[in-house]
Amino acid sequence: MEPSASIYTTFNLRLYDFVVLVISNAFAWRCSTRSTLLPFYQKHTKESSAHLEVGSGTGYYPATAASSGALSKTRLITLCDLNPNTLAYSKSRIASAGYRGSIETLEHNIFHPLAQDVRGKYDSIALYYLLHCLPGSFPQKATDVFATVVPALAPNGVLFGATILGKGVEHNWFGSRLMGLYNKKGMFGNTGDSEEGLKEALGEAFEESEVTIVGVVALFEARKPRGVTN
Ligand SMILES: C[S@@+](CC[C@H](N)C(=O)[O-])C[C@H]1O[C@@H](n2cnc3c(N)ncnc32)[C@H](O)[C@@H]1O
Repeated sequence: MEPSASIYTTFNLRLYDFVVLVISNAFAWRCSTRSTLLPFYQKHTKESSAHLEVGSGTGYYPATAASSGALSKTRLITLCDLNPNTLAYSKSRIASAGYRGSIETLEHNIFHPLAQDVRGKYDSIALYYLLHCLPGSFPQKATDVFATVVPALAPNGVLFGATILGKGVEHNWFGSRLMGLYNKKGMFGNTGDSEEGLKEALGEAFEESEVTIVGVVALFEARKPRGVTN
């Protein structure tokens, strides 16, 4: 397994929410989980009947959205991840949060094509804190990931996500140290990830897209994949 996924042992998953969602998001990446990332997630899932969560991690966002009622219309959540630990951990957390629909898990490398039977299946697809973890040049890795997930998007569906940029943004001292360390260990691969590159990859794959920068995080949403007629 690649280091972008193998780092998420059950022990590390227990630390993840505090280290990443509380400390790093507030002080290194300057993008608040509670006031920015969670509302952005809830906004895009609240009307979704079937949701695909790529890179499920601890399942914080779907679990918190479920407990706040933002997934009350969602009858299916599919969790897709390369690491079986994160799939088991996030599935159990979402179920414990009171989610009433079905939860499917898919152990899968997002650089490989999805099965034909997911074609047009999802009203919403989340890519939260996935792209910056992935190895490869930018924007090619984003283009590759969009090419994997776009066939699974329903005609009026939305793809949305958030990613930590490494280029063209001002990292503070804490963020620079953390980014350097994580890139060295292979947990991040974002030294070349820029807003321009992200816009380029989104623009190639979708007719409509929008990117908003908060701190050093790019929040993005996209609709109407190119070459797909509704
Ligand atoms: C930084 S965590 C993000 C977790 C969660 N989305 C969040 O924002 O809290 C990245 C997740 O992506 C998964 N991942 C990394 N590389 C992957 C790949 N090539 N294919 C699928 N999942 C991958 C990891 O196992 C991990 O669960």
